[in-house]
Amino acid sequence: MTTTFGHRRPMLSPSILNADFARLGEIVRELEEAGADAIHLDVMDGRFVPNISFGLPVVTALRQVTTLPLDVHLMIVEPERYLAAFAEAGATAITVHVEASIHLHRTVHMIHELGVLAGVALNPATPLAAIEEILPFVDLVLVMTVDPGFGGQSLIPAVLRKLERLRRIVDEAGLHCLLSVDGGVKLSNIEAVVRAGADVVVTGSALFQSDQTPGQELQRFRDALQQALSG
Ligand code: DX5
Ligand code: ZN
Repeated sequence: MTTTFGHRRPMLSPSILNADFARLGEIVRELEEAGADAIHLDVMDGRFVPNISFGLPVVTALRQVTTLPLDVHLMIVEPERYLAAFAEAGATAITVHVEASIHLHRTVHMIHELGVLAGVALNPATPLAAIEEILPFVDLVLVMTVDPGFGGQSLIPAVLRKLERLRRIVDEAGLHCLLSVDGGVKLSNIEAVVRAGADVVVTGSALFQSDQTPGQELQRFRDALQQALSG
């Protein structure tokens, strides 16, 4: 099972939440061929967030379709109930929300015991203080730049200041966790997202709203990343 999360920084982890679900396998293959570093899978239970998306069968099916890391984002209450099932389904990384995890240190340990990378997500209004103690134990921090539950929302610019502060904390402490940004990332703001300190960029609806194919659109994001780095 893949237990690394790509090798080049910043990485692209496209979200398939707004994809045509009738063509999901094809689209994931296309994103892999276009150079995605991982596939971001948004699991929603209709309780932690006001939307229901998909669950274990989709993760299991997509595991058969791609060798890319599956970056599973659990927007569910009591996520510890499903860690083994998502690991079994083929998750490479499981990210739980700090707002949904009463015993976060135990949950992160459980994810690692399953041989899976552990991530913690925090909503726009959740302060960094809520995750500061868990930072040395996680592999990924998912900084939500929208209120979770739906694709196609606008990035909340103030959260990039939070990301900058988190970047400084992680770098000064010499921690290994990757910083991922999720929500409202477009070609128009990806440079600001990278400059604020993202190692991983999640982008979803932007890939499925243009006249280009998702693979072509992802290539445009890759080009924009290179430009941001060389700029
Ligand atoms: C929102 C999800 C995001 C979303 C990203 O709750 O966590 O991953 O699908 O999609 P865009 O890029 O459309 O905001
Ligand atoms: Zn997500």
